[in-house]
Amino acid sequence: MSAQASQRQTTLSTLDAIKRRGEKFATLTAYDAIFSSLVSTAGIKVILVGDSLGMVLQGHDSTLPVTVDDIAYHLDCVKRGNQGALIMADLPFMSYASESQSLESAAHLMRHGAHIVKLEGGAWLATSTRLLTERGIPVCAHMGLTPQAINRIGGYRVQGRNPDQAATILEEAKLLEEAGAAMLLLECVPVDLAATITEASGVPVIGIGAGPATDGQIMVLHDLLGMETTGIKPPKFVKSFLAETGTIREAVEAYVQAVEAGTFPAPEHCFA
Ligand code: KIV
Repeated sequence: MSAQASQRQTTLSTLDAIKRRGEKFATLTAYDAIFSSLVSTAGIKVILVGDSLGMVLQGHDSTLPVTVDDIAYHLDCVKRGNQGALIMADLPFMSYASESQSLESAAHLMRHGAHIVKLEGGAWLATSTRLLTERGIPVCAHMGLTPQAINRIGGYRVQGRNPDQAATILEEAKLLEEAGAAMLLLECVPVDLAATITEASGVPVIGIGAGPATDGQIMVLHDLLGMETTGIKPPKFVKSFLAETGTIREAVEAYVQAVEAGTFPAPEHCFA
């Protein structure tokens, strides 16, 4: 067995223990074998096969066109390269609109190598979260800005800025944890709200554009590498680590170190 293949497998218990110790962990998207191998040997604890692949790989202007088969294909690739990271898979748009559909889609992705599935939404996810969890499929609930609902939301903007909206997100986070969610992901919410939810949650909370208080951070790989989509201004929470380092491996390692040390995200990456 090679040194890389003998790396210890990250599990949900590993992440729970990191949270209990008050430490931080770094997570990242990857969509193919070579990046999966690189990031999982550079300290990344969770690889997300995200529906962001619709934008960064397929060139769509949203995540909506991504299918379960697209995620399954990239999961196969990531699984082959992975050296011990926990693999999270997105259930794409309209693949969990009903309870039976969420079971079918999630089971399909678990058979392709996912260790946990991620669903976007709020209170309405509670029934599916319970069903999946009871049947052995861990769930990460993605809250705050949920890009699959971009047409309802009306733009990629910060969520939970007014007190009522913040209280709803906090309540829904509690509800989803009670329904069995093994992890929460907060996208584009104010720092204080993310800190309150992280403090109140017994499960690990991952953030993107949610400030430094969450237990883990996530980034889209291409953002970390400074690869901008033509004509689109990178969001405030993005940092190109490659711009400060020499190689892709060094950039991923710098991201991991910055997250674990609590120096990323810095105030300029956060929403007050
Ligand atoms: O699909 C994705 O990459 C995501 C992250 C932005 C969290 O959901």
